[in-house]
Amino acid sequence: EESKKIVLTEDPALPAAKKAKINKLTPLRGDRVKIQGWVHRLRDQKGIMFIVLRDGTGYLQCVLSGRVAQTYDALTLNLESTIEAIGTLQALPEGKTAPGGHELVVDFWRVLGAAPGGEDAFTNRLNEKSDPSILADLRHFVLRGETASAVLKLRAAMLSAFRKALVGHNLMEVTPPCLVQTQVEGGATLFKLHYYGQDAFLTQSSQLYLETCLPSLGDVFCVQESFRAENSHTRRHLSEYTHLEAELAFIDFNDLMTHIESMICETVDTLLADPVASALVKQLNPNFTAPKRPFMRLSYVDAIKWLNDHGIQHEEEDAEGNVIKDENGAAKMVDHAVGDDIAEAAERRMTDILGVPIFLYGFPAELKAFYMKKMPRKEGETGPICTESCDLLMPGVGEIVGGSMRISDIAELLAAYKREGIDPTPYYWFTDQRKYGTCEHGGYGLGVERFLAWLANRYTVRECSLYPRWPGRATP
Ligand code: 4AD
Repeated sequence: EESKKIVLTEDPALPAAKKAKINKLTPLRGDRVKIQGWVHRLRDQKGIMFIVLRDGTGYLQCVLSGRVAQTYDALTLNLESTIEAIGTLQALPEGKTAPGGHELVVDFWRVLGAAPGGEDAFTNRLNEKSDPSILADLRHFVLRGETASAVLKLRAAMLSAFRKALVGHNLMEVTPPCLVQTQVEGGATLFKLHYYGQDAFLTQSSQLYLETCLPSLGDVFCVQESFRAENSHTRRHLSEYTHLEAELAFIDFNDLMTHIESMICETVDTLLADPVASALVKQLNPNFTAPKRPFMRLSYVDAIKWLNDHGIQHEEEDAEGNVIKDENGAAKMVDHAVGDDIAEAAERRMTDILGVPIFLYGFPAELKAFYMKKMPRKEGETGPICTESCDLLMPGVGEIVGGSMRISDIAELLAAYKREGIDPTPYYWFTDQRKYGTCEHGGYGLGVERFLAWLANRYTVRECSLYPRWPGRATP
């Protein structure tokens, strides 16, 4: 009853408050500051209120006591309300801990946007033990949590570290289109749409466009969404993902792998050298250590042998790609043979046993996309025709990068269209690259969510995307 009558007013005799963000407070210790944010945590201890305020840049403990803690707003304050708090920023006394090593002793505050309590309270809406589909519906609330927001902060730092590494190696950023009329990685995973009376697709990869930039801008990269209509419900497949792709001219296959390795290692070094980013890595993945260079290089043919030597088999499939089952419904397991696609499960097991980044290279041409350059064959060599292609595999995730050298000869490219049953007509602009000054070139695509899953030790790429999309899910 009493509290309803307590009305706070700001004391005009106090020094004017400086408005600041939480991560910029350290130089303002001793000053009177104004902070706006969301009530992240709330606790009452013998009439003293402790509020942990969150503004996206950090967390700040606010201490409210006396009249300041006795207003109606104070007694009815709920988590996730927005408030403005003004007070003196004080270093914490010896032995106390709080984010930033300081706390705000509040002399005036007000509610900006009250969040509901009771039935509709934030903690009732978001129960972390809810089933995954409820949590997916509530992604907008999950993002307010300490872990999800740390993953996104690390993602931002990671993208800027990558850009720094790429620009440092003379690659220029471009922004290719998402609406396209050509496929790159096979027609089966294209999202098709109506486009002013024509068919168009959502891009699977910006690679072909990057290739057209080489004669214009030199080496290039992009950070662009790619779309895959794959019915894969795995830990590492999204229907829309952020694709970091790069293309380099006048290189050979060895240069390509060395470049990919440099980009990964320089990005990790930049992150670990930055106090904010390295604290995020420590929070999310306490055991993380930077990978050692050079990365292991394992040919596809040697990998097949390695899998068989280690008893890692795969499910036998019929000609249509259906798993063959015995009378008990169990899949029939068989050894790997040269020519088999190495499936996700086997690749993961191998990578986890080896425990280091691995360049798996030299995949048979028939397993790979139309544009890949073939490996020169040695005298008398048998077996499948292999390509100058590589996947980079990381422990815990598996493939995070796919790259290759590209066909540089126009006749070979035209033959490749034919072999794959691709109509060359809509590819005229791509074919022209081989006609007007061809060059040896290659490039790669890195799955940003997969790289982040490795760096931040996340179980699935779904945790590494702002609003992940997978089969059946495009909400929120
Ligand atoms: O191996 P991919 O299909 O290669 C390409 O698209 C090339 N055209 C890239 C290039 O050379 N410019 O895809 C490259 C990477 C994969 O290694 C993986 O990290 C990621 O893209 N990726 C996916 N990430 C999440 N969900 C999916 N469905 C993905 N498909 C590929």
